[in-house]
Amino acid sequence: LRTAAVIPAAGRGVRLGPGAPKALRALGGIPMLVHAVRAMAASRAVSLVVVVAPPDGATEVRHLLDEHPLSDRTDLLVVPGGETRQDSVRRGLAALPDGIDAVLVHDAARPLVPVDTVDAVIAAVRAGAPAVVPALPLADTVKQVEPQPQGTPEPVVGTPERALLRAVQTPQGFDRETLLKAHDTVVEGEGATDDAGLVERLGQPVVVVPGHEEAFKVTRPLDLVLAEAVLARRRA
Ligand code: CTP
Ligand code: MG
Repeated sequence: LRTAAVIPAAGRGVRLGPGAPKALRALGGIPMLVHAVRAMAASRAVSLVVVVAPPDGATEVRHLLDEHPLSDRTDLLVVPGGETRQDSVRRGLAALPDGIDAVLVHDAARPLVPVDTVDAVIAAVRAGAPAVVPALPLADTVKQVEPQPQGTPEPVVGTPERALLRAVQTPQGFDRETLLKAHDTVVEGEGATDDAGLVERLGQPVVVVPGHEEAFKVTRPLDLVLAEAVLARRRA
């Protein structure tokens, strides 16, 4: 099976605070996106990486990636993204050439995912699973609440059993046809916050493989501190 990785990198990074688009922020002196592209290209199974750039930044991102070339083994495409993550992923999928049978979707905001996690996801897809997500057990207990206007305490309506919950990461891996069908079928705004969620709505099975602590998503300023520390430890 030929495998491609689509990297949505078109988000602004509002929760990270003011500055450049999140994927272009530096980590260890190198843009987060370059780390994410390298993390996908590190897998020998990945023959193509499709980067979904900020809508007005595709040319800049292309130049940036040309400054950090990949091995000859991996091709690279850059396409402009859209208003939502789902829209951005759809645009990346539309750029896939014929002959790709398996697709990874990986957040640019998870720059430090180890190659073993990438390979574990690909292996499960190649073993026949239409959709695969890496995930970890939760450290925190989770409460369901009844949302209230700002400033009003929220009543708790339930506590799902923590041992049954998993926090989901990327890369998520898919049989190409399954993922295309999911994106074509499911309407934007129906509340799926990941790609596997779209596949679930088709009624297709999704399976979990072990995720990795270092595949965490850089979302808030404290995550940048952690990411820099992980990089420094790797380089030591
Ligand atoms: N993403 C995208 N297109 C969008 C929105 C998000 O490609 N319109 C990408 C982001 O670049 C990121 C991934 O989806 O790599 C996960 O999204 P998230 O962590 O929420 O990033 P942002 O949307 O950029 O951050 P925020 O929600 O804080 O603005
Ligand atoms: Mg977002």
